[in-house]
Amino acid sequence: MDDKTRITAILAKSEGTNLRGVIDELQIIARGGMSHIYRARQPSLDRYVVVKQLKDELFSNPEMLERFRREAKALAAVLHQNVAHVYDFVESGSQSYILMEYIEGADLSFILSKLGQLPFEMAAAVALGIARGVSYIHAHNLIHRDIKPANIRLTTRGGVKLMDFGIVMNLDHENLTRPGLMVGSPSYLSPEQVLGDPITHRADLFLIGIVLYEMLTGVRPFREEGGKTVFQAIRESQYVPLKKMRSTVPAALDRIVRRCLKVKPDDRFENVKELIKELESYLGGYRSSHIDDLVLRFLDQEAILTPAIPYLELDERKMSRRIFGIEWSWSIAALLVIGLGLGLGVGFWMGSHPGAVPNAPRPFPPTHSYNR
Ligand SMILES: Nc1ncnc2c1ncn2[C@@H]1O[C@H](COP(=O)(O)OP(=O)(O)O)[C@@H](O)[C@H]1O
Ligand SMILES: [Mg+2]
Repeated sequence: MDDKTRITAILAKSEGTNLRGVIDELQIIARGGMSHIYRARQPSLDRYVVVKQLKDELFSNPEMLERFRREAKALAAVLHQNVAHVYDFVESGSQSYILMEYIEGADLSFILSKLGQLPFEMAAAVALGIARGVSYIHAHNLIHRDIKPANIRLTTRGGVKLMDFGIVMNLDHENLTRPGLMVGSPSYLSPEQVLGDPITHRADLFLIGIVLYEMLTGVRPFREEGGKTVFQAIRESQYVPLKKMRSTVPAALDRIVRRCLKVKPDDRFENVKELIKELESYLGGYRSSHIDDLVLRFLDQEAILTPAIPYLELDERKMSRRIFGIEWSWSIAALLVIGLGLGLGVGFWMGSHPGAVPNAPRPFPPTHSYNR
């Protein structure tokens, strides 16, 4: 069975989510650690959706399958502008799928690999978006545990979205005193994850600190260096101070990173809300709604979200619907507006220059001319 037939059949099984119906333009957009990510267009609503399929070989692994189910449930429990939005979860035969919104944009990992370090305000704005999403999931007793640039997406509207709840921990179902499994990506772990100590929401604070450091310097704080392994560096939170990496780093951001990256969870911010307050106070001049604009302007300026991004290049169908690079429907609308404008202009001009066109009907003479 080809991908399209298989995924159309899956969408048909989705109950009450408006996802039924034919899909087209199906393409694979990423192969993650656990899953294949497809994007499909749903013509009935003229939108794209994402179908995240657990890799075949992982379906038979009960722990992986359980994680995938947990990811779907966790995503379904939260609805927040800084968290990817899930539509449905479908299991069929030996396959498991999460259906979710398509986040048009680019991964933070892609942006960092292209640009290296980011401007200070941009880094703070992205950290604020992440922190707001994380604070919301913490309020739902969830700990993300896998916050890293590949799991953060910046949208074409300037938004910041947290994705990939593959190793999320639900405090309602999991025992707090149980040591945390060492799951996650080596460079993006907290000391308690490395040590197998109990995990609290403050582990996510450490991970946000790592991402903020990387946005400010272009490099990860914890790397294998000088005979030390990444894990040793994380356990002792040994990293080159921000000021040494980039001497102009504002003191407020330096303080924030240092506070997030404390070895002992108790020495970090009390909770993510405290971090949000600090970031907001640094960004002071920007009202909340303007923070998206700040991100958007930056992405525009750096041409990050132009068709240079692979999935857009692949999207030939969309390009073929374009005239001079503009969506055809807009081109037609523009031509109509220009035509109408020209028509009105000529009509107006003729009205005020009656002799300009030979044989043109003369305008009705003004009343006073009859009295002469
Ligand atoms: N909803 C989405 N919209 C757009 N791209 C997505 C979406 N979900 C995932 N992706 C892309 O797929 C990649 C892998 O997805 P992720 O959820 O992290 O899977 P895994 O659990 O396998 O790591 C992401 O880094 C991102 O580029
Ligand atoms: Mg991922």
